[in-house]
Amino acid sequence: MSNIHFKSESNEWETPQDLYNKLDEQYGFTLDPCATPSNAKHDNFYTREDDGLTKSWKGHVVFMNPPYGREIGKWIKKASEEKGACVVCLIPSRTDTKYWHDYIFPHAHKIMFLKGRLKFNGHKNSAPFPSAIVVFDYMACGGSYIGAYEKQM
Ligand SMILES: C[S@@+](CC[C@H](N)C(=O)[O-])C[C@H]1O[C@@H](n2cnc3c(N)ncnc32)[C@H](O)[C@@H]1O
Repeated sequence: MSNIHFKSESNEWETPQDLYNKLDEQYGFTLDPCATPSNAKHDNFYTREDDGLTKSWKGHVVFMNPPYGREIGKWIKKASEEKGACVVCLIPSRTDTKYWHDYIFPHAHKIMFLKGRLKFNGHKNSAPFPSAIVVFDYMACGGSYIGAYEKQM
């Protein structure tokens, strides 16, 4: 089994570093709640063993690229409900899904649809799905705005 196939099946769609860096410049992340020690985007992270879903994210500026399996809806729900946190999500742009309609369209502060397909770390080819960046809780983000990043896309 190829490495690419393995990663795809295990939902390891690791964020491209340049995309993370641009967003980090804008937001100043303080927590990666879904990671492994080898793919964590921030020194402060939770793994599957910690279960980032059960932790409080309050007071944090969170970068969330969640597992892309069936559990993704639970992560988006938590991101939309976690008051006192700013949560910037990198997710598949599957706008027909229940979690987009239940949590993102009614509650997101900002939605940015990325042009083209991302090349995730460790994958030879571009992703077979489009991606979006979704920001929850404008106030916790201090009103920050990622327009500068948008102009570079
Ligand atoms: C799409 S990857 C993102 C990895 C990395 N944070 C990034 O942005 O590149 C999702 C990660 O969530 C981890 N994960 C799965 N369930 C988790 C849980 N309950 N708590 C914390 N992390 C979890 C997986 O092991 C995987 O590494």
